[in-house]
Amino acid sequence: MVAGAGQERPETYVKGEGDFRRMMARDDLDAVYIATPWQWHTPMAVYAMKRKQYAGVEVPCAITLDECWQLVKTSEETGIPCMMMENWSFRRDNLAVLNMIRKGLLGSIVHCHCAHSHNCVSWYVDKKWPIEHLLKRCADQYPTHSLGPVLSWMDINCGDRFDTVVSMATNQWGITDQLSRQHGKDNPQARLDWKQGDIVTTMVRTVKGKTIVINMDMQLPRPYDNRWMIQGTRGLYDEQRNSVYLAGEGKLHTPEKWSPFDPYQAKYEHQWWRGKDSPGGSFDRPGDGGVDPLELALFFDAVRNKTRTPIDVYDSVVMNCIFPLSEISIAKGSQPVKCPDFTCGKWETTKPKFAVDETVTA
Ligand SMILES: NC(=O)c1ccc[n+]([C@@H]2O[C@H](COP(=O)([O-])OP(=O)(O)OC[C@H]3O[C@@H](n4cnc5c(N)ncnc54)[C@H](O)[C@@H]3O)[C@@H](O)[C@H]2O)c1
Repeated sequence: MVAGAGQERPETYVKGEGDFRRMMARDDLDAVYIATPWQWHTPMAVYAMKRKQYAGVEVPCAITLDECWQLVKTSEETGIPCMMMENWSFRRDNLAVLNMIRKGLLGSIVHCHCAHSHNCVSWYVDKKWPIEHLLKRCADQYPTHSLGPVLSWMDINCGDRFDTVVSMATNQWGITDQLSRQHGKDNPQARLDWKQGDIVTTMVRTVKGKTIVINMDMQLPRPYDNRWMIQGTRGLYDEQRNSVYLAGEGKLHTPEKWSPFDPYQAKYEHQWWRGKDSPGGSFDRPGDGGVDPLELALFFDAVRNKTRTPIDVYDSVVMNCIFPLSEISIAKGSQPVKCPDFTCGKWETTKPKFAVDETVTA
């Protein structure tokens, strides 16, 4: 395909599953972008960092708590950044909301709702999704698209951190029903004993007392949705309504009326999006245009300039750790579990670092 498009034919490494090591043994690589099946994400990222190559890892970057720690320790020991490529942190609307929050429009942040609602059953059938995890595990297996923007909205890892996690899962009906309807009830996959519940609801309480509700909802027929809602002492933003409600300066009894988000989007536009057209879209869902090219451009800028990546290893694993933590909580009958402090105390003194935009004056 590359050669057919008139470019130089790339070298390939196809001598088995471990051939990535031969590729990473090269001394002319600055970075490795890892978009392989889940079980390879951490081993490949760790290997890359040990070879002094920046690691860009697709979601989820780790599938166990031990892997989360491996990423943190290797990045700390080698001094090489590791970034999970969570694209929703870079969405135009989410970054404008971040600017609004940092300008204090919502007051002190109290609570957030988020979800990843995306019917992926057809992916399971095509085996694009790693079905072994859905057969063997019940967890929020894909928490990063919901949590990506929430981390910076709530100053997680820079002033606050996740403390307690509680998760609850429904039974599984959705995969069986959809596969039976599409392929007949005798379809071999429809008859499998899928362990993954249809909806997983997770609650997180932070050390500073904020709460988050996260839904994983990927096995029932429905349109795509993230249901972001972030609420503070002075107002809230609701993505589904495309609206904000702000209490206003000194007014205790503001009319309880939503205001359209669009003027706020324009006024608090993040510098990564302002003054230029969207860098182009690779998705077909409304509002996605340009997010992935922007994220990639920022990652490769960091590689070229040998600076930190926009999402660091701590934010990567904290977005991701809801996967293993929710599994533990569900297995224990929804008991609360403690979230490790992957920063080992640095969250208390670290200043906000993701997408800091000094150019917004409003
Ligand atoms: N950020 C997002 O919005 C988003 C969207 C889709 C997929 N993803 C993630 O991207 C990753 C890839 O998803 P996909 O749909 O492209 O999967 P895919 O199965 O189509 O592609 C995986 C590729 O990895 C290759 N591969 C497998 N084992 C390998 C090994 N040991 N060494 C080298 N290559 C190997 C396969 O040949 C295949 O080309 C997944 O982790 C998925 O979760 C992220």
